[in-house]
Amino acid sequence: MNSDKDLRKIELNRVYHSDCIELMKSMDENYVDLTVTSPPYDELRNYNGYQFDFEGIAKNLFRITKRGGVLVWVVGDKIKNGDRSLTCFKQALFFQTVGFKVHDVMIYKKKNTPFMRTNAYTNCYEFMFVLSKGSPKTFNPLKVKTARQGQEMLPFNKGADGINKKILGELKPEKTKTNIWEYATGLHGTTSDRIAFKHPAVFPEKLAEDHILSWTNPGEVVFDPMCGSGTTCKMALKNNRFYLGCDISTEYVELTKKRLEVLSPKLFTQ
Ligand SMILES: C[S@@+](CC[C@H](N)C(=O)[O-])C[C@H]1O[C@@H](n2cnc3c(N)ncnc32)[C@H](O)[C@@H]1O
Repeated sequence: MNSDKDLRKIELNRVYHSDCIELMKSMDENYVDLTVTSPPYDELRNYNGYQFDFEGIAKNLFRITKRGGVLVWVVGDKIKNGDRSLTCFKQALFFQTVGFKVHDVMIYKKKNTPFMRTNAYTNCYEFMFVLSKGSPKTFNPLKVKTARQGQEMLPFNKGADGINKKILGELKPEKTKTNIWEYATGLHGTTSDRIAFKHPAVFPEKLAEDHILSWTNPGEVVFDPMCGSGTTCKMALKNNRFYLGCDISTEYVELTKKRLEVLSPKLFTQ
């Protein structure tokens, strides 16, 4: 593999061509505030036959995550001979053994999924394991509009007479989102960057952005060790966070750079 040779000094706002384990070995401990990443799922896609050392990746991710930092692991699993591999659960359990807390198990629901199985319901989701090193140091809850707004007669304290009193009150205009997040996929859903689809497994920009806004503040470090088309890096840059990207494939590193160049040409003219 013809990878980036100089991993001795890691720079932020860069995309590295490397095996992510090698890159993480060069990173200081407690370096990253948030990782949003998606690994190759089982052998669902063959990324030019590259090896995938999950346990090595998990251990290194724990080491480079700051105390209170978060790792979002977006993953599905394959079905072989009618049997789901459950690799994603095995991975989640392994993350616990290396020290992560399973802070939440969230669902990424896809709005438009093709019908795929004749003897089971169409799968329309992947897991987003939200793993933290200790308790998350940042949580900026995303809000959604409530169904009803304005004023309404609301139940008040029940008195000794047992009668439910009602009082005119203001309905809350918004509430915190649930942990099932739904996104449209495909062009203009996942992203409007046509070139991104040169990669076979892009996750939605909004998914990456929603995690970045939830678990970090501006100026913090967002990492994607297997960045593919560069979705996490792009959304970190757009939201004034530092990004750090890495992919084992030259083709995908170049793809990520192209997507980022449009946003911040100055970073690429040095
Ligand atoms: C599911 S894709 C990521 C897609 C990405 N989330 C996006 O939105 O484009 C997984 C990526 O992991 C990369 N990869 C596989 N093994 C790797 C390793 N050991 N180190 C770094 N990257 C690796 C593959 O080349 C592939 O691009």
